[in-house]
Amino acid sequence: MILPKKILLANIPTPLQTIKFDGKNFLMKRDDLTGVELSGNKVRKLEYLIYQAKKEKADIIFTDGGDQSNHARATAIAAASAGIKSKLFLWGKDKPNADGNLFLDKLYGAEISFLNKKEFSKVNEIMFDERAKLLKKNKNAFVIPEGGSTTLGIWGYISFMNELNKQIDLKKIEGIVAAAGSGGTAAGLLLGIELLKLNIKVFAVNVLYSKDEIKRKIFHLAEGCILDYKLPCSLNEKKLEIIDGYSSEGYKNITEDKLSLIKKFAQSTGILLDPAYTGKAFKAYYDNFILKNKGMKNIFLHTGGLFGVFGKREKYLSTK
Ligand SMILES: Cc1ncc(COP(=O)(O)O)c(C=O)c1O
Repeated sequence: MILPKKILLANIPTPLQTIKFDGKNFLMKRDDLTGVELSGNKVRKLEYLIYQAKKEKADIIFTDGGDQSNHARATAIAAASAGIKSKLFLWGKDKPNADGNLFLDKLYGAEISFLNKKEFSKVNEIMFDERAKLLKKNKNAFVIPEGGSTTLGIWGYISFMNELNKQIDLKKIEGIVAAAGSGGTAAGLLLGIELLKLNIKVFAVNVLYSKDEIKRKIFHLAEGCILDYKLPCSLNEKKLEIIDGYSSEGYKNITEDKLSLIKKFAQSTGILLDPAYTGKAFKAYYDNFILKNKGMKNIFLHTGGLFGVFGKREKYLSTK
């Protein structure tokens, strides 16, 4: 097995907490607390990716995402901290009063190219074309694809399982529930579980891709990682379950019932969930685990996304 190297960016171990909500207890792993400006699940992936960018002597880092992408924001900040420029290819429009993640992207000096939905469907081609143009000028762009979900980036969540293993007896745990965007977090978790020979399921709540697409992406990434790093394990399809139907309003939207739950949860526990990922995943967790008294055997992974809240200020305030 080849172990990749990383730089240190995340404040880890993050706490594993027992939370009481609606009269029921459940377990929450607080990856929203990996940092402040640099926070959430992306930081774990970026530890490996930025190490590699530095090793390759990158002049600039390219990545992509929505205009409120947590990953793009975290990449811009991580790049700044490593003294490397960044360019973000964002799906959406520029706003004079940029809010949330977009505000931070600008504050940290990232160059931004805004793309419409059609252009964004070809974002990898766009990034690699631009990389090729820069290469002709002897400039090296390190490209981080969607969500930092490469066979290198997902090491963030392979090693996460070692961290969790020290915090709780994982033989008592049945599952880990997390939002799935690009699928890297779920792929890393699956591999970490296999490497530790645990009988734990990953419940991925798809917020961006269809059930079949996300399943394919997760297995593709995990299989690629097994090959790239010669991991001594194989995948068990039964260990991944997609909890579908919690983002039918679309990636950039969120329904009132979910927002009500987010507000109620924030006001009774102090913990804030975001509108694109954790708010949707938490609703799925609430319906399928908390309400069924399965919260102490199934861990909710809070993957962060705090700054996304500011892009939806009015909706958060107007919801009861
Ligand atoms: C807050 C948050 N949670 C979850 C995810 C999903 O992670 P992944 O892309 O690894 O599936 C993302 C990013 O996509 C995110 O920003």
